[in-house]
Amino acid sequence: MADLSINLAGIKSPNPFWVASGPPSNTAYQAHRAFEAGWGGVVWKTIGEPIVNVSSRYSAMNLGGVRMAGFNNIELISDRSPETNFREIAEVKKRWPNHAVIASLMVDTRERWHEFVKWSADVGADGVELNFGCPHGMCERGMGSAVGQQPAVTERIVSWAMEAATIPVIVKLTPNITDITYAARAAKSAGANAISLINTINSITQVNLDNLVPEPFVAGFSTHGGYCGPAVKPIALNMVQSCADDPEVQLPISGIGGISNWRDAAEFIALGSTSVQVCTAIMHYGFRIVEDMVEGLNDYLDSKGFTNVAQLRGLAVPTLKKWESLDLHYQRIARINYDKCIGCNLCYIACEDGAHQCIDLVDPNGYGLGPGRVPGKPIPKVRENDCVGCNLCSLVCPVDNCITMTSIETGKPRMSWTDYQAKMARGEMMPIPPHP
Ligand SMILES: Cc1cc2nc3c(=O)[nH]c(=O)nc-3n(C[C@H](O)[C@H](O)[C@H](O)COP(=O)(O)O)c2cc1C
Ligand code: SF4
Ligand code: SF4
Repeated sequence: MADLSINLAGIKSPNPFWVASGPPSNTAYQAHRAFEAGWGGVVWKTIGEPIVNVSSRYSAMNLGGVRMAGFNNIELISDRSPETNFREIAEVKKRWPNHAVIASLMVDTRERWHEFVKWSADVGADGVELNFGCPHGMCERGMGSAVGQQPAVTERIVSWAMEAATIPVIVKLTPNITDITYAARAAKSAGANAISLINTINSITQVNLDNLVPEPFVAGFSTHGGYCGPAVKPIALNMVQSCADDPEVQLPISGIGGISNWRDAAEFIALGSTSVQVCTAIMHYGFRIVEDMVEGLNDYLDSKGFTNVAQLRGLAVPTLKKWESLDLHYQRIARINYDKCIGCNLCYIACEDGAHQCIDLVDPNGYGLGPGRVPGKPIPKVRENDCVGCNLCSLVCPVDNCITMTSIETGKPRMSWTDYQAKMARGEMMPIPPHP
């Protein structure tokens, strides 16, 4: 069994799995339940001046049979008083001294930041997370993403928090910005100890076509909400990797966004996260999902020969390169396993209409009869010389491992776009002819 314990900028927890700031981290009751289930940390629902929420406040995008593939909310920060929240944090910390309890904060003035950061430390919180991310409600009041979208403002407010901080400060970044590394650099230059990302993404999930009002419906109107859940994972991974790879950032990262299982978590860790935070998946399935996450991550680390989770951290970060340095001579082609092919011909349609017209429908004789195939019905065959290796057919194929993208030897030396331009400038090669 690998050691799953982590230390994020001095905040220790028995495993990397933290409950993200949101409805599941609203009360001491929920924090106790989370820790009993096996979560390593809880980032408290953001504390500030108590707010009033609207009804209703959530909507979702369902995809096929998958409910809540994307989730949207127009909820604000905690509607409970700071006194209640901080008293409950103290209670939770007393009962769970070895678990991470982080106070998420959002206030306005310098004095209030000082007061709330000190308050967090006084009640025993292991750290604070500054919420610069909420894309609705709080930004109109000069907080949330109104701070996170302007690096200069981020820097100023982080520096206010740092003036009072005696415990680690994590800055939670908004993805509603052109380049998140600018905000991460601002946090770093103001002295932040870590960053967490992403908060939710501005969104409208759907328009109700009966009343022509988007969801969530509030007395005949709606508002732009924050998007999260599985659909945002690719965006979050991209931003986490960008921050992890930026030489000017180099801060510990708590990765957030669409994490539902151990695989998602392992991917965030491989792209540089020390801890991972989960909100929507808990709202969907409950705290119990952490059991599979702990077991799955443990088995994965064992299978890779890692003795602790830190050994996985960041391993995938340097494999992301600028496009111009990728090898133009590398070639993959699609190969079909006819023992698995069910003859649906989705690959043929996709390549014919959406790619490079290099799958033919051929006489099935000589290709065996895979499961469910209709005898005599033509089957797809890849013209390997014409296949550009785009992956599309393997992505649409409904049968796992039926189409394998296979590397082939071209006999050509590695050559990137940068190498190519340099050779052209030296007159060492002819322009590459365009594809016919
Ligand atoms: C209903 C709801 C309320 C949220 N409230 C907060 C909050 O108070 N403070 C905060 O920093 N993030 C809040 N978030 C954002 C989450 O902490 C998290 O950053 C985001 O949902 C992405 O993670 P996920 O895909 O696991 O949900 C909230 C998210 C949801 C869905
Ligand atoms: S999509 Fe897959 S299963 Fe369907 S015909 Fe193509 S190879 Fe066979
Ligand atoms: S990899 Fe792309 S080009 Fe090659 S057969 Fe599949 S869809 Fe066509």
